[in-house]
Parts: sequence; C-alpha cells; structure tokens
Amino acid sequence: MIYLDNAATSFPKPEPVIAGVAKYLRDIGGNPGRAAHAPAREASSVIDYTRQSLANFLGNVDPARILFTPSTTVALNLAFKGLLQAGDHVLTTSMEHNSVLRPLHSLEKHGISHTQIPCSSSGELDPTDLPPLIRSNTRLIALLHASNVTGNLMPLTEVAKIAQERGLLLLVDAAQTMGKIQINPASFHIDLLAGPGHKGLLGPMGTGFLYVRPGLELEPLWEGGTGTHSESPRQPETWPERFESGTYNAPGLAGLAEGIAEIQKLGLEVIAARERGLIALLTEGLSQLPGIILYGPRDPHLCTGSLSFNVQNLDCSEVAYILDTAYSIAVRSGLHCAPAAHRTIGSFPHGTVRVSVGPYNTEEEIHTLIHAVSEILKFRRK
Ligand SMILES: Cc1ncc(COP(=O)(O)O)c(C=O)c1O
Repeated sequence: MIYLDNAATSFPKPEPVIAGVAKYLRDIGGNPGRAAHAPAREASSVIDYTRQSLANFLGNVDPARILFTPSTTVALNLAFKGLLQAGDHVLTTSMEHNSVLRPLHSLEKHGISHTQIPCSSSGELDPTDLPPLIRSNTRLIALLHASNVTGNLMPLTEVAKIAQERGLLLLVDAAQTMGKIQINPASFHIDLLAGPGHKGLLGPMGTGFLYVRPGLELEPLWEGGTGTHSESPRQPETWPERFESGTYNAPGLAGLAEGIAEIQKLGLEVIAARERGLIALLTEGLSQLPGIILYGPRDPHLCTGSLSFNVQNLDCSEVAYILDTAYSIAVRSGLHCAPAAHRTIGSFPHGTVRVSVGPYNTEEEIHTLIHAVSEILKFRRK
C-alpha cells in the first residue's frame, strides 16, 4: 500500500513511537499525578518529559504554557471559547478548516462575530487585504499556517507584523506545519498556537496541544480532577493542570516524545526539502497529463507536502476509489473538512483528490501514482 494521506494523520509511525506506546502500556501503566506510588510517579515523568520536549521543539518556550489536548480541533476550541467574549470580533481567512470556522460560527450566538478575509483562487492570502477589515472591536486574527487542501503557506510573518502593530492577538492553526517547518512562537509573535501530535510530529492519534503565550489569560472549558489542590471545589489556578482535568492519554504522549525525537533526528530542513521535492515531482508529472486540473500555487517553495487535483469529468471520489482499489494508493477525496477553502479555489461542492506526503514517502511511489492517474485518463478516454 502507498500511503499518501499524511495531512489526515501521518503513517507509518516510526518504530520508536510504537515502542514508546507499548512500553508505557506494558511497563509503566500508572495514572499520572494520581498517586504517590512508583507507577504513577513514572507516568508523571513521562508527561513532563513530553511537555519539555515539545517546549524545546517550539524554541524553548515555558512548558507550563503547553496544554495537552486530544487533537488540534480541541486545542482550537479551547483557544476560541476560553479567550473570546461577547462583543469581540475575529478576523480569519477563507481557507480555514472547519475546526476554526465551526467554533467561530457557533460563537456568533454568544455575540462574537468574525470576518473571513477572501483568499485568491489559488488559495493565497494577500496580507494587504487585512488592515481594512480590522474593526474597533477586532481582538484576534486566527489563521492556518498552511492549507490542508492546497498545501500553500500563509504569509505568517506579514500577518504577525500587522497583529503586533494593531495590538491584536494572533492564533495560528499549525495542523499542517508542525514537524515540517520550524515554528518558534516567540519570534513569530504568536499568542496562541494549536497543533497536532499525530500528523507532522509523527506521534499517535489522540495527541495535540495548545501553546498560550505567558501573560495571556484563558478560561478552562472543562473542570475536574487534576490530582492537585484536591481539597478545593474550585479548579486550580496553576498552569497547565488548570486546563488538563481528567486522565491523560499517557501512552499517546509517551509515543509523541519519540515522534518529536524522530523529527529532530531526521531534521526539519531535510523533511521539508524531501516533501517539497516529492510535491514538485508530482506537480510536474500531473501537469503533463491532459485533462488534469491542478489547484493551489504551483511553486513547491510556497507549499507544504499537500497537493490537490481533479480529473476532468470524473468525480474526485471515483478517482480516489480507483486509486485505492486498483492500485493500493491511499489519497483523500472530497471537501477535506474545509468547504470554504474549496469555495475559494473553485472546487466546491465536489472537492478534489488530495495527495499528502510524509517523510517516508519515496519518488518511486510518486511515479507509481502519476502512472496510475495516466492509466485512469486513458481508460476514461476509451
Ligand atoms: C488545517 C487543519 N486544521 C485543523 C485540523 C484538525 O486537526 P485534528 O485532526 O488534529 O483535530 C486539520 C486536520 O486535518 C487541519 O488540516
């Protein structure tokens, strides 16, 4: 099987990640922070170690400001709903995932409004479109770092500069760039950063995080047992446990530390260059086939490891089905939980075929995909 759906979740997971999860389940087993016995102490040190690894990875941020969540989606919900108040206005883009757009939509009933900045038909955001849309009650700019549909990168440096100049908070959805591009929240002036553990960081599913810049206050969305200050009926004030009630996905977090170590061993630059090379190869191969529609900017330097295409007059789900069943190639078709992005690039309501590579994909696999698509085209012509 050729796995080309790394934007959904990365696969295969490296052996140390699998071994880290298994070791936790087999040899550690305790509930972190819930007792003084050895298994619970060892479990706590696993969580601390993963938090510290991620803090180092993000440019030596304060580990207490990293809040573990089960996914990017939960991290984004925590950011929006823990931060915003009635009367606030949010600026976002027309390329966002539903994990940004749906919470913002539901917050409308609480008096929180938002505006989507229109992006171009290739999914690109022009940062000069942003300042005219800032209102007196705009509090936050929320945008993805890279599109999960076209792969194109947003102009984060320019957007961060505008946010800083205008005194606005900046929330970045790094679902598609964590583990692929160095993101140092302090140097980008990012106030909140939401990311997955299970995509570019190569960790298990059920892992994610929200980083919150020191000094920024947030309300917890759920309360309960933290293993600390148990005498009080109130949620503790201390970070990170204020936001982490309930039992952790400790086996997943044990695996995540190994995923981060693997990324550091491979090297972010090497991963990025490899993925860019694979997307460039695919872009070149597909653009030589008649009847292929490519979406997004064609320059791989402007993209991460995802590419969307369609075969003229063939539904994208049919293409994905043939690739899966006849060629054992796993790609994702449809709207990719990002209907606004598909409206922007002109592929709504059917969507596109998305190919998303990871650090272990090879040129040979990309050649096999191009060949498979060329055969689908030939078959369709007959
Ligand atoms: C841009 C973007 N944001 C958010 C998410 C949600 O991530 P998660 O699956 O970790 O909740 C995704 C998932 O694909 C995504 O691509």
